[in-house]
Amino acid sequence: MKIAPSILGCDYLNLGKEVSSVVNGGADWIHVDVMDGKFVPNISIGIPIVESLTKIECFQDVHLMIDSPENYVEKFVEAGADAVSFHVESTQETSNIIDALNSSSCLSGIAINPDTEVESIYKYLHRISYIVVMSVFPGFGGQKFIEKTPERVQNLNSFRKQNGLDFEIEIDGGVTKENAKILFNSGADILVSGSGIFKHESPAEAVKEIRGMCS
Ligand code: DX5
Ligand code: ZN
Repeated sequence: MKIAPSILGCDYLNLGKEVSSVVNGGADWIHVDVMDGKFVPNISIGIPIVESLTKIECFQDVHLMIDSPENYVEKFVEAGADAVSFHVESTQETSNIIDALNSSSCLSGIAINPDTEVESIYKYLHRISYIVVMSVFPGFGGQKFIEKTPERVQNLNSFRKQNGLDFEIEIDGGVTKENAKILFNSGADILVSGSGIFKHESPAEAVKEIRGMCS
């Protein structure tokens, strides 16, 4: 299981320290939430943060919650992203963006909102490295986990096995040590957690606690 702390809710006055602490706590990926105020009703961070984080030894999982991601994917790759996911609901260019990512140094990911049918993206799953299954409606940290998510993960896991595919399943939104085990048992490979980690008194400890639920 990969643990990917989301830095959306961390202390930006101490970003380097916060990221280093969770990396030292064993975080596998650092989840960077990019929001444009159009695709989601919030504006967060962008390319300068990705460029700055390249100075820390970490794997940047950039989650684009923006309209027309086709206009920015290459810029985030150049900025230093290691994996980029974008929402299928945000563009008509899903196939072209997957091709662009697959010809870059980045892992390719697509993200789906809680109200997007899993079956609607089956046709892309043989072409991508990972799928981000949103367990909240995107835009904010600290939201309540949507309880139907594990069955969506099981659906994707069965499809993966039946078709001999190897895409990874990432869960994003409201993930905590309380729901980590059911997600692990459902077939998830990457757990994103923002408030579950950065609102903990020891984010490094929180990473270990979540990982400890996944065995
Ligand atoms: C929401 C973001 C998530 C969020 C996770 O739009 O994509 O990555 O920051 O934060 P928590 O774990 O607090 O829901
Ligand atoms: Zn995210």
